[in-house]
Amino acid sequence: MKRTRVCDLLQIRYPIIQGGMLWLANAELAAAVSNTGALGIISPLAGMERHGDSSENLRFQIAKARELTEKPFGVNIPLDLGESGTLIDIILKEEVTVVVTAAGNPAHYTELLRQNGATVMHVVSSVRQAQTAESCNVDAVIVEGFEAAGHTGFDELPLFALIPQVADTISIPVIAAGGIVDARGLVAAFSLGAEGVQLGTRFVAVEENIANIRYKQAIVEAKDTDTVITCRRLLPTRSLKTEFSRKLLEVEESGASASDIRDFLGYSRARKGQLEGDLTNGEAYCGASAGLIKEIAPVALVVQRLVEGYEEVIKRLV
Ligand SMILES: Cc1cc2nc3c(=O)[nH]c(=O)nc-3n(C[C@H](O)[C@H](O)[C@H](O)COP(=O)(O)O)c2cc1C
Repeated sequence: MKRTRVCDLLQIRYPIIQGGMLWLANAELAAAVSNTGALGIISPLAGMERHGDSSENLRFQIAKARELTEKPFGVNIPLDLGESGTLIDIILKEEVTVVVTAAGNPAHYTELLRQNGATVMHVVSSVRQAQTAESCNVDAVIVEGFEAAGHTGFDELPLFALIPQVADTISIPVIAAGGIVDARGLVAAFSLGAEGVQLGTRFVAVEENIANIRYKQAIVEAKDTDTVITCRRLLPTRSLKTEFSRKLLEVEESGASASDIRDFLGYSRARKGQLEGDLTNGEAYCGASAGLIKEIAPVALVVQRLVEGYEEVIKRLV
C-alpha cells in the first residue's frame, strides 16, 4: 500500500487508523490494530464501570497497551468530557506519543501536547474547522463525514464533498473518516486527497472489540437504510435504527427542549447500548456503510483485506 505522510508522521506501516470509541476502544483492541502495522487508539472510558474513575482507567489502558504492543498507539480525548483536562495531564505524564482530540477547540491543548513530544490530530467536519485546527498547529486533521458513526457535524457534510474541499485548503495531511469499510472506500478517500483513513464501525464488529455481541450482530445484520440521525439540533448522532432511537426521535419531535432531551438521555446511553447490549434503552452508534459489514472478523483480517484490496482496486482502475 502507498506510503503517505501519515505513515511517517505516526511511524506506522499502513495509513489506517482505528477510531476512538468512548466505551469500547481498550488496550486489547488498540494493540491488536497497532500490531498489524495500522494505528490503534485507546479511549479513556473503555471497559469502565458506570461512574468509574476515568483517570485510573486511562492509566491502566495505557500501561496494558504498552504490554501488548511495541508499536505506536494513540489516545483519543473528546474535549467535551468534563474531565478532559485531567485526562490530558495523564497523557502528558505518561508521554503518550499520539493524541487525537475531538469535539472541542484544538487551541486548548495542542501546543502543550506538542511541546511534550506528542503528535496531535484533531477531528473536524468542515473546512472552517480544518483551517482552525491547522492554525492551532495540529499535525493532521481527521476529516469526518456525516456518514460516520456516533457524533457527527452539524453541517451534515458527506465525506465525498468534504475531503477535496479540505485538502485544497490546508497543507497538513488529511485523514478521512466516515463510511469507510473496505478498500474501495480507502482508494476513493485517497483519490479525493486523503493520506490516511480512520474506521470506526468496522472495528466494532471485530473479535477483539469488547462491544456486546448483540450490538456487533446488529451491525452485521444492518442494511443501507438502517442508520438514523438523532439529536439533530443538540448533538447530531448516527446510530442504528432501534427501539431506543425511535423513542428518542419521538421525544425530539414532541418539541422537547434541549434540557428535556438531556434529561431523557441521562447518563451514558452509549455504554448501555454498546457494552451492555441493551438496544431498547441504549444507543448503538453505527456508520452509514454498515451494510458492507457481513461478519465479525479478527482485526488482522480486516486490515489484511484493506491492504490487499487496495492493490486489487488500483489494478481494476488502471
Ligand atoms: C461505538 C463508537 C464510539 C465512538 N466514540 C468516539 C469517541 O469517543 N471519540 C471520537 O473522536 N470518535 C468516536 N467515534 C467515531 C470514530 O472514531 C470514527 O471516526 C467513526 O466511527 C468513523 O465512521 P465509521 O464508523 O463509518 O467508520 C465512535 C464511533 C463508534 C462506532
